[in-house]
Order: sequence, then C-alpha cells, then structure tokens
Amino acid sequence: MTDPSTTNAGIPVESDEHSLTQGDLGSIALHDHYLIEKMAQFNRERVPERVVHAKGSGAFGHLEITGDVSTYTKASLFQPGRTTPMVARFSTVAGEQGSPDTWRDPRGFALKFYTDEGNYDMVGNNTPVFFVRDPMKFQDFIRSQKRMPDSGLRDHNMQWDFWTLSPESAHQVMWLMGDRGIPRSYRTMDGFSSHTYQWINEAGDRFWVRYHFKTNQGIDFLTQEDADSLAGSDPDLHRKDLFDAIGEGNFPSWSFEVQIVPFAEAESYRFNIFDLTKTISQKDYPRIPVGTLTLDENPANFFAQVEQAAFEPSNLVPGVFVSPDKMLLGRVFSYADTHRYRIGTNYAQLPVNAPRSPVHSYSKDGSMRYGWNDPSMPVYAPNSYGGPAADPRYTDGKGWAAAGEQIRAPYELHPEDDDFGQPGTLYREVLDDAARARLAHNIAGHLDDGVTDEVLERVWVYLGNVDVDLSTAVQKELGVL
Ligand code: HEM
Repeated sequence: MTDPSTTNAGIPVESDEHSLTQGDLGSIALHDHYLIEKMAQFNRERVPERVVHAKGSGAFGHLEITGDVSTYTKASLFQPGRTTPMVARFSTVAGEQGSPDTWRDPRGFALKFYTDEGNYDMVGNNTPVFFVRDPMKFQDFIRSQKRMPDSGLRDHNMQWDFWTLSPESAHQVMWLMGDRGIPRSYRTMDGFSSHTYQWINEAGDRFWVRYHFKTNQGIDFLTQEDADSLAGSDPDLHRKDLFDAIGEGNFPSWSFEVQIVPFAEAESYRFNIFDLTKTISQKDYPRIPVGTLTLDENPANFFAQVEQAAFEPSNLVPGVFVSPDKMLLGRVFSYADTHRYRIGTNYAQLPVNAPRSPVHSYSKDGSMRYGWNDPSMPVYAPNSYGGPAADPRYTDGKGWAAAGEQIRAPYELHPEDDDFGQPGTLYREVLDDAARARLAHNIAGHLDDGVTDEVLERVWVYLGNVDVDLSTAVQKELGVL
C-alpha cells in the first residue's frame, strides 16, 4: 500500500488529478483547498536567484589537516589532525540560473566549514586576483558584465569599455581571457582566497595569509571553440560532471596550502598585499602544505542544500580575521544583507547554513523563525539571570593600527604596484607560447563582437601596456594591422 497523499497540514486528500467542480461543466470551487494549495505553493517555488554567481553546483565533504600551521593560527579547524565537515559551491559569475556552464567567466569557489567554534566561510574564486580593488566599483563592474537595459543582451563593448577605463582590471582580464577562463570541469580548477586574511595564534601574534586550493585532478581547460559548442549541446556539463564523479565514488580533492606573510613585512613589501588585483610572489613567500579538501557527498536536494546555501565572508572564527583589503571589508557587509533579502531573515536556521556548534544568540523572531531559545533565557543583554555573555578574550589581539584623516583615495603605492606589472609577468614568464597564442586568440574573438572603434583604440593601449606583443598579436588576428 502506498501512503495516502496529504495536504501540507497532513490531511489525506481525495484526488491528485481532479479539481472540485459543480457538475462536470461547473466552476471550480474556491474551497478546493488542495488545488489552491498546489497552485499557491508552485507560485512560490523560487527564491530570487543570486544577483551574481546564480548558476552553480554544490557538494559536501571535509577538510583534513595534515600539516602544522599552529604557529600561525589558533583556529580550531586548522589544527593538526583535525577533520571538519563542510559544503562547497562552485559557480559562474555573470550568467543566470539556466546559463551554460562553459561560458567564459571566473568561477566561484565557496566553502562553508562547520567548525566547533561556529561556521567559517571562505568565499573565493578560481583566480587569485579580481577586476577591481574598491567595493565602490563592484556594482558598476558587474553591471558592465551583465545585460543591456534595453535589449537585455550581453554586450562585449560594455565589458571592454569598463575594463579599459579601469586599468586595475588588466591582471584578472589576463586570467579570464586565458585558459583559466573556461575550466574543463569544476574538478579541474584551483581555488583561491584571493584576498589576504589575518591569522592569529594562541600567543596573539598576527600573520597575513592567502589560501590556495590546488586541484588534485590536474588543471584542465576547454578551448573557446569546444566551450561554444558544449554550451549548446551540454549546458549543464560542469554540474553533471561533479554530480556524476561523486556519485561514482570518484571523489575530487584539493591540496590546501597557504602563503604566510609576517605581520610587519606587509608594509615594506614590494607589492601591496591588501590590493586584490595583485598576487604575492611565491618566490618571496612559498606555499606551505596544510591539508586536503575532499568532496564525497552529493546534495540530496538541490534547492534546500545548494540554492539556499548562504556563504558569507563575515563568518570568521577565532584565529581568523579580515585585513585592510577594502574589497574584503565591503564584502563583510554585502553577503548577509543579500541573504536576508534572497532567502529571508532566518536563513541561518536552514540546515545547510546552520552551524553544528551551539548557538547562544540573542536574535529572535522574524519571518519563518522555527527555533527558539529556552524560555528561561533572558531576551536582552546584559542581564542578571545567567544569560549568555560575550567573552572579551575573543578580541585576541586581532586587527591592525590605522591613523589619518578620513579620505576617499587609492592605496598608497608600494614600489612595484603598477597595474600592468603583474599581468605582464604572467604573460611573459608564466604562460608558454601555446597559452599566449590561445590568450590572443580568445581576446580577438571576444573583441570581434560589437566593440566600437573608440573602445578598440583604448584596448590596443591597454593590451600594449601588458605587453606590446600581445597587443600586436590580437590586432594581427583581427586584421587591424
Ligand atoms: C556571490 C557581492 C566580490 C566571490 C556574491 C553575491 C553578492 C556578492 C551579493 C550573491 C550572494 C548570494 O546571493 O548568495 C560581492 C561584493 C563584492 C564581491 C559586494 C566586492 C565588493 C567578490 C570576490 C570574490 C567573490 C572578490 C572572490 C574572491 C563570490 C562567490 C559567490 C559570490 C564565490 C557565490 C557564493 C555562492 O556560491 O553562493 N557576491 N562580491 N565575490 N561572490 Fe561576491
């Protein structure tokens, strides 16, 4: 016997197929509550898609610490021998929910660790840098990558117009237009914190840190031509690849490594390590192995566990803190705010977002609240009735000193902080001849799609500032030279 179908209130229903009418030709009765419930529920099946990173895939797994970085951080999840459960979500940035996985775009690399001291979220990308370095420009940047207000079309002219007027974008544009701009799958890409974070050890000593997650499947990419064809034939390629691999027991993993910069060295370093458009040289600060991230469990419900997953750079645990990176400081506000709008005030109570450590928060009520504190707990602090109290020990020396007038200004420059230096090094010293040729080919193809002559003139200068050879190669391919 199958179970009887019921309403949401658990009441057995009479029919799954026929609405209630007055005779076979009569009107539908408003008191057919089950029909009304079905229609009303259906109308509310979607939450708004993420304003960026709308198309993505998720999986559960764990982080296992095999190295020893206890000299640098006291964060419990990073202590030797520790294994912490987590959820990951990988995504494209500009495309909407149904957009093809193989569009050229950075890929999101968002991780939520369920630690014994609350949730720690590391919300990074598959690139170590970003297009802009001030949160004031993020909204404009994203709009230039999305759609035109009148036609609703993507527009390459808008993209290059913004990039060439924002020279700090050059480094990330090189990553985007190169092989890393279309990974073969989510399993074959690296992840980066991109930002510099602060680590604090037991003694209260502070360090600067950048995270690298190096794929153990090997880096692999798609050519523009293959990606274009797959966008038509297999738009969910990356989602399927990840789900199938995990389903078959072929669990993807990443080596977790960090670059550590002693606190005092940041000030005099040749690059500003708080500038998100710059990498920190691995010759100066080599990567230190810390552990392995493994994904071994598929979601059982995409909507509940992936669509409603809420990652937020403000989720930091003791031993980890932000840095003076203005983008990171802006992001600390943005994510919790968008979750309140996208999912609802009590998004943190949903199982995928809820910490697995105790919550003793004074927040209460609000839409869709289903958990509550013990009624004996006071609803205010401070109180004299034994309610939870903040512990000043958690200040733990984190932070940094800053002084000066309130200003709106760029960062002060470090000796090698020009916008085209690092992209030039990437082009000349990191890429090989074949990768350089693909980069020029990809840029030429992108420019050959509605970019105006006025913007193109700026593009030649912009690319020439990275390397004259690159500008020449692109112009030759387009037949401009
Ligand atoms: C998603 C804002 C920069 C990585 C989002 C979302 C917003 C946002 C509003 C949608 C979140 C949601 O609805 O769940 C911003 C702002 C930024 C910024 C204001 C700069 C000031 C960055 C940077 C990175 C990044 C630099 C990577 C280093 C991501 C990722 C997601 C995301 C991976 C998707 C998270 C998920 O899978 O749910 N961002 N972002 N963002 N952002 Fe950012």
